Formats: sequence, C-alpha cells, structure tokens
Amino acid sequence: MSNPRLKIRNLSLRFGERVAADNINLVLQPSQVTCLLGPSGCGKSTTLRIVAGVEPQDCGEIYLDGDLICDGLTTTPPEHRNIGMMFQDFSLFPHLNVLENIAFGLRGTRVSCRHRSELILERVNLSGYGSKMPHELSGGEQQRVALARAVAPRPKVMLLDEPFSGLDERLRDNIRDETLKVLREDGTAVLMVTHSPSEAMKMADEIALMRNGKIIQKGAPYTIYNSPVDCEAAAFFSDINVMESSVEKSLAQTPFGEFFAPGHADGTRLDIIIRPQHIRIDFDRAGRGPSPTDAMGQAARATVYRARFLGQISIIDFKLEDGLILTASVPSVFLPKVGTLFWLLAPRKHCYVFPK
Ligand SMILES: Nc1ncnc2c1ncn2[C@@H]1O[C@H](COP(=O)(O)OP(=O)(O)OP(=O)(O)O)[C@@H](O)[C@H]1O
Ligand SMILES: [Mg+2]
Repeated sequence: MSNPRLKIRNLSLRFGERVAADNINLVLQPSQVTCLLGPSGCGKSTTLRIVAGVEPQDCGEIYLDGDLICDGLTTTPPEHRNIGMMFQDFSLFPHLNVLENIAFGLRGTRVSCRHRSELILERVNLSGYGSKMPHELSGGEQQRVALARAVAPRPKVMLLDEPFSGLDERLRDNIRDETLKVLREDGTAVLMVTHSPSEAMKMADEIALMRNGKIIQKGAPYTIYNSPVDCEAAAFFSDINVMESSVEKSLAQTPFGEFFAPGHADGTRLDIIIRPQHIRIDFDRAGRGPSPTDAMGQAARATVYRARFLGQISIIDFKLEDGLILTASVPSVFLPKVGTLFWLLAPRKHCYVFPK
C-alpha cells in the first residue's frame, strides 16, 4: 500500500506546565479532509503550527508521503515542506497586486503561472480583481486572495486554521466548498481547524475531537455524532438531556424505565444522555390512558413547560412527573401550548449511558 500523504506520530509539545499537544496521532490520505475540532485552548492551532514547521515539537514524528520531515531532532524548514497554510492572521504582500500575490509561490513559465493564478482567482469568486492592490480590497476579499495564494501551488498538504471565519455566511459556504473542491482535485490532504461542530460535520471526511491537548475521539462525522465517547463529546455537538441514575444489578432506573448497564458495579453513578431531537412525543394519546410501552421502552408522562418557535424547529421543554426537565426539538409545524400533557419516549438506540 502506498504511504499516506501525512502521518503524525506521537506528537507532543509542552509550554511550561501546559501540555498543548499530547501524543497526537493522525493519518491523512490524499484528498482527505480532516477537521481538528475542539474548544478554545485545546491545542488545535499548536498542532497545525508544528505540522507547518513554525513551532518545534518536544517529541514525535511527522511524515509526508512516507518521508520524515521532523522528529524533534532534525527538521525540514517550513518553505521546503510542500505544505500550504492559511492561518487567521494571514497577510498579503502589500506591494504586489492580486495576481502577483497568487503567483508568488508558483513555479513554471510566466504563462502557466498566470493561467493557474487566474483559474484559482475565479474559483474564489474574484475574477477581474487580478490587477487590484491589496489595500483596495475588503477584508473578506483579502482573505479570499490569501486562500487562492495558498491553494495555487498545489501543496501536498494544506493547513487551514479557521480560514473562513471572517466571511459572511453565504459567501463562506460557497468559498469553502470551492476551495475544498480545488484541493481535493489536486490530491491535497487538508488538515483544518474549526471550533464549529456544524462546519466540521459539513466538510470533514474525518473529525478529530480534541480536549486538553489530546485527541479524545476520531471518526467520520456520522460515527462521532452518533457514538460519542463520553458526555462532554456528546454535548459538543448539540444540546443534550442528562438523566442521572445509579446501577443496581446491572440495571439503571430512569423515568423511561430500566436501562441495561452491564459491566458497571452496583452503586455506580451514571449519566444517561439523549439529544433533544431523539425524544419521541406520542401525539396520539396526548398523555391520557395508561403508560404506553413499546420496543422503544417505557413512556414517561410530561407537561409542556416552555415552547419556543425557532423557524426550522421548535424547542419544547417538558417537565416530567418527578420534576426533571427534558428538552425536545421537533419540526416547527408543531408548537404545543404550555401545560399540555404528553407521553414521551426515549428510544434506547439514541441513548448513551456513561459513568459519571
Ligand atoms: N507560544 C505559546 N506559549 C505558551 N503557551 C502557549 C503558546 N501557544 C499556545 N499556548 C497554550 O497552549 C494551549 C493550546 O493553544 P492553541 O493555540 O493550540 O489552542 P486552540 O485550540 O487553537 O484554541 P483557539 O480555538 O482559541 O484558537 C493554550 O492553553 C495556549 O495558551
Ligand atoms: Mg487556534
């Protein structure tokens, strides 16, 4: 099998007491987009800076197409790594016009460089801007030129540190999709930083979820959303409902009946998690009659405590008979009155059971 485009092995870096990157391992294939996702300060930019070669690691190795580029002792300088980068604090060369900025790092004939620069400029929606100077451009336009400049030389790996964050929403989606398309066509592997779960879900083939310098979970968006490793990982992607319980004979009692908790000792405190969109509302019985049970488990009776219309969805807070408040989200064709009774269900396949 051929070598991966980028391989990061056991990479660590400490700033004094602070471990900014803690044993990072990642493998990226050509054309693959991997998002480093996590809260502020978790080590995303640090990881990118080490890969770029602008920050030396304490230990660990990085390979590009199978060749070692740094291992803490020896290092290939940034300009010889064939790695493109676009960080938030980009700057254009002020004395060069837009086309000259983009062509700056290109090799080849004048004509081929100009041709490539014009093509990329078009992809970032700036055709016709080639002869403008950077000071004549808006902030968002400058950002797109910087993106074009980073993409133009067809780097083997592209590092993007929240490069789309300054653009307005519609333009952002468009520029982001176009940029990634060009990079994929060139076989470039993309390692991208974001703290927005929805952006990561939209773009990534693989998400690496980070916390305190560590990658705590890696996987395709579907997997990482639906099989979180812990409560915090679940909460990073959406609001969650938490039901507290403790184990008795491998079972945990909840308002929705018993949950299996195999492998947990009696008395272990558990959090049982369900996302708002996974709570099922039994519209037929409107909270009347005996508790319905079905394959999804036992129902719990609840009254509408607060209901908010948000356009695409409505958010409904329910109060259960034991006082627990659970939040459900439903398509916004439905907005019940406060005080209405319903039976709720918590389908087991959408519940996660974690020890506290
Ligand atoms: N040059 C430095 N000297 C000392 N500490 C640093 C340095 N660079 C980063 N750190 C610390 O390392 C940790 C990780 O920083 P990093 O910039 O990688 O976070 P991040 O995940 O990119 O956060 P954000 O989303 O806010 O950009 C932080 O606690 C930060 O304060
Ligand atoms: Mg950062």
